[in-house]
Amino acid sequence: MISSELIALTLAVLSAPVFAHHQAREFHNVHNHGIYPLSPRNYITPETKLDSYDYIIAGGGLAGLVLASRLSDDGTTTVLVLEAGDTGDAEKAKIDRPGLTYFTSLLGSSYDYAYKTIAQSSAGDRIMNWPRGKILGGSAAVNGMYMVRPNSVEIDAWHDLIATSDNKAYADAWTWDSLLAAMKKGETFTGPTDSAEETTGLKFNAASHGTSGPLHTTFPGYMVPITSAWLPTLAAAGIPTSEDAYGGNNLGAFFSTMAINPTNWTRSYAKSAYIDTLPPRDNLHVLANAAVTKITFADNAQDGNLVASGVEFAKDASETPKSVSAKKEVILAGGAVGSPQMLLVSGVGPKDVLDAASIPVKINLPGVGAHLQDHLATGIQWSTTEDTQGTIFASGSDFSKSDEFLSYVNCATSYVNGTYLFDGTESFNNFVTGLKDTLNDDNALQSLIPTTDDTTVAGYKAIYQSYTDKIVPEAGMVEILYSINSAGRITIQTALQTPMSQGRLTVNSSSIFDAPVLDPKYFSHPADAVVLRQALKKVRQFATLSPLKELVGEELVPGPSVQSDADWESYVRQNANTEFHPGCTCAMMPKDKGGVVDASLKVYGTTNVRVIDGSVFPLSMSAHLMAPIYGMAEKAAELILSPPTSGTSTSTAGGASGTSGSNNNSDGGGNAAVAVSGAHAKWLALVSVVAGVVFTSL
Ligand SMILES: Cc1cc2nc3c(=O)[nH]c(=O)nc-3n(C[C@H](O)[C@H](O)[C@H](O)COP(=O)(O)OP(=O)(O)OC[C@H]3O[C@@H](n4cnc5c(N)ncnc54)[C@H](O)[C@@H]3O)c2cc1C
Ligand SMILES: *[C@@H]1O[C@H](CO)[C@@H](O)[C@H](O)[C@H]1NC(C)=O
Ligand SMILES: *[C@@H]1O[C@H](CO)[C@@H](O)[C@H](O)[C@H]1NC(C)=O
Ligand SMILES: *[C@@H]1O[C@H](CO)[C@@H](O)[C@H](O)[C@H]1NC(C)=O
Ligand SMILES: *[C@@H]1O[C@H](CO)[C@@H](O)[C@H](O)[C@H]1NC(C)=O
Repeated sequence: MISSELIALTLAVLSAPVFAHHQAREFHNVHNHGIYPLSPRNYITPETKLDSYDYIIAGGGLAGLVLASRLSDDGTTTVLVLEAGDTGDAEKAKIDRPGLTYFTSLLGSSYDYAYKTIAQSSAGDRIMNWPRGKILGGSAAVNGMYMVRPNSVEIDAWHDLIATSDNKAYADAWTWDSLLAAMKKGETFTGPTDSAEETTGLKFNAASHGTSGPLHTTFPGYMVPITSAWLPTLAAAGIPTSEDAYGGNNLGAFFSTMAINPTNWTRSYAKSAYIDTLPPRDNLHVLANAAVTKITFADNAQDGNLVASGVEFAKDASETPKSVSAKKEVILAGGAVGSPQMLLVSGVGPKDVLDAASIPVKINLPGVGAHLQDHLATGIQWSTTEDTQGTIFASGSDFSKSDEFLSYVNCATSYVNGTYLFDGTESFNNFVTGLKDTLNDDNALQSLIPTTDDTTVAGYKAIYQSYTDKIVPEAGMVEILYSINSAGRITIQTALQTPMSQGRLTVNSSSIFDAPVLDPKYFSHPADAVVLRQALKKVRQFATLSPLKELVGEELVPGPSVQSDADWESYVRQNANTEFHPGCTCAMMPKDKGGVVDASLKVYGTTNVRVIDGSVFPLSMSAHLMAPIYGMAEKAAELILSPPTSGTSTSTAGGASGTSGSNNNSDGGGNAAVAVSGAHAKWLALVSVVAGVVFTSL
């Protein structure tokens, strides 16, 4: 039931002056090309126009389209993008309106791979859904739009995992300072509307954001009135409001910036930001409905490294694959599922897995698909008689159909550390000591590590130690976010950011059109259930604190029957689902630690195959993954266009640098970012949030 009072309030905050300064704001078609009219999209073609391209990008998702744009910037380098999904043009209205992501979601449609995990033995034997976007723009076209940056500690821990004595020039790209510069380069940030700021009391630091990148970030233009409860309730619970969650320290409560273009309150994503804004470009061709079925390799290996000659691709399993050649490189950008799958069906991966699937082994690379890590989310739900986003949407009022209302997406969030979760330093330190003990327990390790391969085992331990020694003591272990898209319900979700469980992706078929076998091994490490248990106990207390106390009725889920620690652990094992952030399946690690790519993103054992997408992070981070992936793809484009001169990539002698030439970066962004300033703030942060979709099932 919507009270008329609340409707009046809602309409009041939408009064004209609030939006005026944004409507008046001139929209610049950024990307350093000056201002162009809307693109004719001449680069989207029904078939390849050339037999060979300098770069073939396999996957037109978030990272793939950033690369396509940047690598073709000079107007002469030829670039082909092959995207398995459709363009999305037929569903543009749904994609564009942020709020519709919850109400007319493309999840479950032909634009979603709708993967399933295998039964998870430590999570109630459940088979879980793993949505992934199958569409130009990738998962960024179907997701929840949170743009959250990680904590600096996490990125610097990544750097430390890959840095060796002889790869400094590349490894230094993967420090917080360098990634921060790249994330800012890709972004144009606009501050909140007056009404959004007044309703929520949100804080931000514009200096931590970018000013002239292709991707737009801002806050929803309209905030549902009950968002006002978020910051004061969390402050009352001991979670301080963050004034700057984007500069390296994302601990505390805040409102996430969202990937939204405030000129017309539409979703800003890789396609609309990096491709649709381009001027006509003859050297860039984008094919939709073109799945890469395998990488083809030339006969002449160089220095023992295979040379990719190109790829084969087809619309579906019934079509005979066509081939196209790569003059310089094949770049895999299929995401955390697609990229390792492409490597495996091409014969690059663990020999035992390839043998079992009758795939001829080209490179025995045990790390492919290993180190899989994900964020697990669950929550508590209460009834409410207040207006939620869901109530207002369901009303069917004119307001519920307005662009302003449909700019709202869940964005109130927070990241909390172990001291908070475990009620003080002493009990938290005991918890960390327990974590460290696992590494000395061979029996435990045997059940935790999904392979006996020496290099993968070494990598598991190295990643584990990064968590226990660097990340867990300092970064956010859990995200706590406010989800109000259901009618009559308020949900507060908790999502594990520091998983000690690592799983594995394999294949049991040589066809790219058969789904890979996904085994995240959720909760195989019991600490993961303990951490979520602690978070939920805290969240239940929120409902006893003002002002949230005045908004919520009875606890609907899980309800009063869940009380003891054992009850909570059982609840999380039975109910947690993915926060949609799987990664690490082509981890950037040394080869002898189960790595797949080196610091230059090159696949070990090849001269000219890179992986550039969310599969290459070696660690989970306390962030939704878009922001770090946009930054990583920007940085990768710089490394390809202007290879660092000192230091070499670890996997190849000479490799790509000879092929990519000295193409000066026309965006002026290439300056950047390899330089690392000495001291950075103790905490640096990236933050992002989760779509509410999955949790409507709560
Ligand atoms: C429901 C949902 C909600 C999410 N919410 C958020 C959020 O709010 N904030 C956030 O930061 N992150 C969110 N994420 C995660 C984020 O969207 C992804 O981490 C990010 O898009 C991954 O980028 P990527 O480039 O690695 O892969 P993707 O963006 O998934 O792109 C991969 C592309 O490669 C294509 N591809 C795969 N295999 C092949 C092949 N063989 N041949 C050709 N093409 C291929 C795919 O079709 C796809 O288009 C969400 C994800 C989902 C699914
Ligand atoms: C953990 O968070 C609390 C606030 O909840 C803060 O006071 C404390 O300093 C943080 N600890 C560390 C190690 O950052
Ligand atoms: C929103 O504005 C951008 C930039 O001007 C434009 O590319 C896009 O088509 C617009 N979307 C809608 C739905 O008006
Ligand atoms: C491959 O694994 C999936 C589970 O992910 C299973 O459903 C399928 O039957 C398996 N196929 C073969 C050929 O073993
Ligand atoms: C790149 O810039 C340098 C110095 O500004 C210049 O000498 C060189 O010719 C440029 N290279 C190309 C390919 O434009």
